[in-house]
Amino acid sequence: MVLAALAMSSLNESQEPELKSAPIEIAVRDVTVSYPVGKNGHKTVLSGLNLEIRSGEFVAVLGETGCGKSTLLRMILGQEFPTSGVVEVDGQCINRVDSRCGYVPQKYSLFPDRTMIQNVMYGPENAYGGWFVRLLPTFRKFKRRLRGEAEQQLLRMGLRAGDFHKYPHQLSGGMQQRVAIAQALMMKPPVLLMDEAFSALDPSTRASLQQQLRAIWQETKPTVLFVTHNTSEALLLGSRLIVLGNYREASQKSNVILDMQLPQSSEPIAVRKLSREFQELSEFVKRRAYGSTPQSEPFQPVQEISSRGDAI
Ligand SMILES: Nc1ncnc2c1ncn2[C@@H]1O[C@H](COP(=O)(O)OP(=O)(O)O)[C@@H](O)[C@H]1O
Ligand SMILES: [Mg+2]
Repeated sequence: MVLAALAMSSLNESQEPELKSAPIEIAVRDVTVSYPVGKNGHKTVLSGLNLEIRSGEFVAVLGETGCGKSTLLRMILGQEFPTSGVVEVDGQCINRVDSRCGYVPQKYSLFPDRTMIQNVMYGPENAYGGWFVRLLPTFRKFKRRLRGEAEQQLLRMGLRAGDFHKYPHQLSGGMQQRVAIAQALMMKPPVLLMDEAFSALDPSTRASLQQQLRAIWQETKPTVLFVTHNTSEALLLGSRLIVLGNYREASQKSNVILDMQLPQSSEPIAVRKLSREFQELSEFVKRRAYGSTPQSEPFQPVQEISSRGDAI
């Protein structure tokens, strides 16, 4: 515990000052989500959830299966709505899917009948306008520029030019996932929602995409919500960690078990992973997130983010 406390104190020193004062990009206010079960029953998934995420934060989200991580992302995306409470992006209540949020699910997100490059170009091309404006010469120019951008995105994701005109079924799952990320980035979304987007990848593809995502975040600072089951991945990529727990009873204040800033470092991911500080932090988070079974220990109430360095 002493080691954990030491790790915590260094977290606050390392919190980037510009993040502290950045505007709030995503606000989840007193959100409850229940689904109907059977004839008259319902199942509560999220309850009393309050979150404020600032522009440019990289929020890694961990939590047991079924605790509502995907539900949370779908609400921010505008694909689903809370039973009560409000979700806002950029100060506006979300009532539909729009281009402010890029979304990468775990798999199967590409159009099967479009090539890789067509998949990546689809979003901006579709947003350009109706058939009439597409007849104008400006559309051809726009498409040329778009193609160049799409190629750059695909190259950055490690795909080779020879694969650009292949269809999803002709490429491995890892390659398809690289395309899905390029596709989400093409719209230059201020918010990037990634739901276990790296879970189905082999370790080396996963490591290379972690590096790329980290570099992209450092360059353009989108607000990222990154759901993962991998504690190390969460701690290495995130600027902040949120751990959600399963809703258990009405007296429970919220699903948030842990909400903390994460130390930032300029060291490469592979080097940081080996540091003693990282190992201790990882142990601490695992203990807090998964260390107690629901049978042996009651649900932990909300812990305030440790911006004052005293909550955890
Ligand atoms: N549309 C739905 N109808 C009924 N139950 C749902 C629906 N979507 C999600 N659930 C339930 O809500 C719970 C949380 O789901 P989810 O957000 O996918 O969890 P997680 O991503 O954390 O594993 C699960 O028990 C799931 O079965
Ligand atoms: Mg999920």
